[in-house]
Amino acid sequence: MRIFSGIQPTGRKHLGNYIGAIRQYVDGQQRAALGGGLAIFCIVDLHAITVAYDPAELRQRTYDTAALLIAAGLDPASCILFRQSDVPEQTELCWLLASVTAHGDLNRMHQFKEKSETQRELVSAGLFFYPVLQAADVLAYRCDEVPVGEDQRQHIELMRDIAERFNARFGDGRELLISPEHRIPEVGARIMDLQDPESKMSTTAASEEGTIYVLDEPELIKRKLNRAVTDSDDPPRIACDPDKRGVTNLLEILAACKAISPDEAAAELADARGYGDLKSAVSDAVIEMLAPVRERYELIRADEQALEESLLRGAEQAREIAAATLADVRSAMGVGPVG
Ligand code: TYM
Repeated sequence: MRIFSGIQPTGRKHLGNYIGAIRQYVDGQQRAALGGGLAIFCIVDLHAITVAYDPAELRQRTYDTAALLIAAGLDPASCILFRQSDVPEQTELCWLLASVTAHGDLNRMHQFKEKSETQRELVSAGLFFYPVLQAADVLAYRCDEVPVGEDQRQHIELMRDIAERFNARFGDGRELLISPEHRIPEVGARIMDLQDPESKMSTTAASEEGTIYVLDEPELIKRKLNRAVTDSDDPPRIACDPDKRGVTNLLEILAACKAISPDEAAAELADARGYGDLKSAVSDAVIEMLAPVRERYELIRADEQALEESLLRGAEQAREIAAATLADVRSAMGVGPVG
């Protein structure tokens, strides 16, 4: 079994990233180790440049993200952890795969629509092309499984189509590229903003109040959760219900922290006096889950040289795999000299 996932080095990582993705990476690393497989994680700096950004900050954010992933439990000795721009094979593959990607499919991508609508500056061609590079990221490693949050479902479906179209067009009966499965968690695949539970928690949210960052101090986490939007049901009703988005989101977070279902989380709060009890149960669980990550982070982040060396070592390992795939793809497509 081979697992691959990518994460952007933009902004600060939040609870949605942690529950929806980062936790699944650590689980994937363990499952791969047990089953003799391989887990590969990529910090996608080239995806981050598709929207307005500050070049000096990008490098710092890449180290921040690497340190956070290691603090969360990724071990560069057991998995491959690297920076996307260190593996040029992925960008070349992106161009080659563009020939089997439908323009109309890219036009339908929700993420492109959302991000291009909110772009105040340039809507770059890179933003439109983002999903092709994402497909190249995964397909370069011929992996079987991609742990992601719900918002990436459509991108994974697209990369499956790209792999299948490539094999049909150039494979000559062979499965040159592997069509991967997504691994979206049952609970916590779409954590919503605490102040606006109709929108997903995100780095570009309107207010910081609705976003819990992985490195937030416990007091701040408590304050943000205390102010989380619920509803005015009287008496208060702690239950999962599509009409109760705020309460449902809190139950989902609680359930994800405790590895139970949201209904079980609601049942545990059957004797609660009100939403205050729900909020303090969620605070306790989130603080307990994130505390070890925050504690380990500072020490890891302080040694930038060690982080850089670790990313470069990861890139060397990654390039070996990606280069083999790229050679097969070039050869099948008739690009370059006979291999
Ligand atoms: P990024 O950095 O925006 O998000 C990283 C991961 O966090 C998940 N996520 C969430 N999960 C639950 N609730 C939320 N509110 C929430 N917000 C974000 C995302 O689903 C993602 O798994 N396009 C990718 C980066 C990427 C990639 C790849 C992923 C580039 N190449 C190859 C997988 C495979 C992204 O959005 O990252």
